Amino acid sequence: MCGIIGIVGRAPVSDRLVDALRRLEYRGYDSAGIATLCNSRLDRRRASGKLRNLEAVLEKSPLEGLIGIGHTRWATHGAPTEANAHPHLGAHVAVVHNGIIENFKELRDALIKAGHSFSSDTDTEVIAHLLSDRIARGLSPHDAVKDTLDQLEGAFALAILINGEDRVMFGARRGSPLVVGYGEGESYLGSDAIALAGLTNRICYLEEGDWVQMSNDTVQIFDMTGAAVERPVTLSAATGALVDKGNHRHFMLKEIYEQPTVVGQTLSSYIDPLNQRIVLQDLCFDPKTISRITLIACGTSYYAAMVAKYWIEHYAHIPVDVDIASEFRYRAPVLSQGGLAVFISQSGETADTLAALRHCKQAGQTVAAIVNVPESTMAREADMVFPIHAGPEIGVASTKAFTCQLSVLAALAIGFGVLRKTIDRSLEATLVQALSEVPSRMAEVLHHDEKLRDIAADLANARDVLYLGRGTDYPIALEGALKLKEISYIHAEGYAAGELKHGPIALIDQAVPIVVIAPMGPLFEKTVSNMEEAIARGGKVILMSCKDGLKNHSDMAVASIELPQVHPMATPLLYALPVQLLAYHTAVHKGTDVDQPRNLAKSVTVE
Ligand code: F6R
Repeated sequence: MCGIIGIVGRAPVSDRLVDALRRLEYRGYDSAGIATLCNSRLDRRRASGKLRNLEAVLEKSPLEGLIGIGHTRWATHGAPTEANAHPHLGAHVAVVHNGIIENFKELRDALIKAGHSFSSDTDTEVIAHLLSDRIARGLSPHDAVKDTLDQLEGAFALAILINGEDRVMFGARRGSPLVVGYGEGESYLGSDAIALAGLTNRICYLEEGDWVQMSNDTVQIFDMTGAAVERPVTLSAATGALVDKGNHRHFMLKEIYEQPTVVGQTLSSYIDPLNQRIVLQDLCFDPKTISRITLIACGTSYYAAMVAKYWIEHYAHIPVDVDIASEFRYRAPVLSQGGLAVFISQSGETADTLAALRHCKQAGQTVAAIVNVPESTMAREADMVFPIHAGPEIGVASTKAFTCQLSVLAALAIGFGVLRKTIDRSLEATLVQALSEVPSRMAEVLHHDEKLRDIAADLANARDVLYLGRGTDYPIALEGALKLKEISYIHAEGYAAGELKHGPIALIDQAVPIVVIAPMGPLFEKTVSNMEEAIARGGKVILMSCKDGLKNHSDMAVASIELPQVHPMATPLLYALPVQLLAYHTAVHKGTDVDQPRNLAKSVTVE
């Protein structure tokens, strides 16, 4: 969601705050702002829209100061206007906030009664007024912050400056992550480790309820009760990670092209290609005795979970439930004793998935997390972590994280099958061989980029697009539709091909392109029958299949893409790429903002 940066420095901070916001812009880009303290006076600059608007404001009206906070916003309360942009000011403080203050209405009413007047529609502004109120009553900054935090309900990460306190910054974390960075005579706050790239790699993840008082050379951390606590300082790899587009026009394209490499890296942690074996690190559970697996995630990660259900049930014979985190957490799910709950998340911070994780942990499930960010909250709270090694994913639309999640899930399905003896040695070798070939096959798929760009030129004129697939390719149809709608704003729906005649077929006419994902395999003929039903009603099909699949059917389609023929287990990994590229080129054709599509944010840390 929103991005936060804070610097207590020895040198001017304004430019460095903006640099950090640039790295954080993927988290939210409705508006941005910074505030600094200079000669005991708080000052701020804000602008609605992209960060470049703030940069233009700062160019005309620079900010001085050795201490400052910055924010890039994904709106929750109040429209994305300058008035609602952070930092928010009270009479004595400046505050930036990620999260939601649930009791803001009652706090705001009480503050208005006490004579405060508000200039934004945000929940954040109550924090600024509440804190100012405490300071006006004579509390020390430390006590005022503690007292204010005690009044707040909801999820938040905060960075706070106080008028007159030129060497002091406060931060707090409840529900939303916050990182403290240790530099050379400087200290930092960031909503994630990427915020601190280039500043320091010595970081400390605040724990739930922690808050911090820091100067340029001291950091004091307190827990929810106000007791001073020590938290471990670690060296973060994320802060050294390069966050640039290379030669690519967009992060999304770069990340699509990275897939052969990162999927190869991921697989190499889970398979031994030489001996054609699965290698699972020490498991904290015994797959032989697991009664049921519950897979929980949101969005694209949820589609990875859907694919995994097919694999785990087929190869390891373990019953699998798949749940959308936001639905799971408010149901009364009946969890089996001895069950394993697996949480899949690129960021490891998605609020609904995290809440579901905590629920399962409390309910006595063994909890595993499949995450891209190894230091994320989910990774830290799970009993066991399966890292996906995709590297930083900056494009808001998830691409390489999806295929890396699938790689881990495929290895787990096979590994569980081996341990449960539902897979014999020869099948293990066949499946591991199929997975080891995926990176090179992905590289072949990327050669279709130009052809997909041509198809996208037509697709860009469509109002609605359907995606069809069966089995493990049904979630790929859903993922293709999600990619298209989120970055090109074209309405798209994915369906299980066999469901077509139960309703969606009514949508089909000559104006609705239908992307059919039909790799050769046990379900090929059935998918083709559904495709024929659509063509018989005027549907214009874009067919994705392999050479054998296209042999007798490509002439029925208005366009086709030939993918390598691979083992059925590998098809979702490969077919993810053309649907990503199709969405990408359609969006570029339409001229939308591919990396920062409207209304979206990368890491959804509010429910
Ligand atoms: C879509 C997309 C989102 C995320 C979802 C979950 O392209 O990126 O649907 O997959 O918000 O995010 P994580 O995986 O970080 O929990």
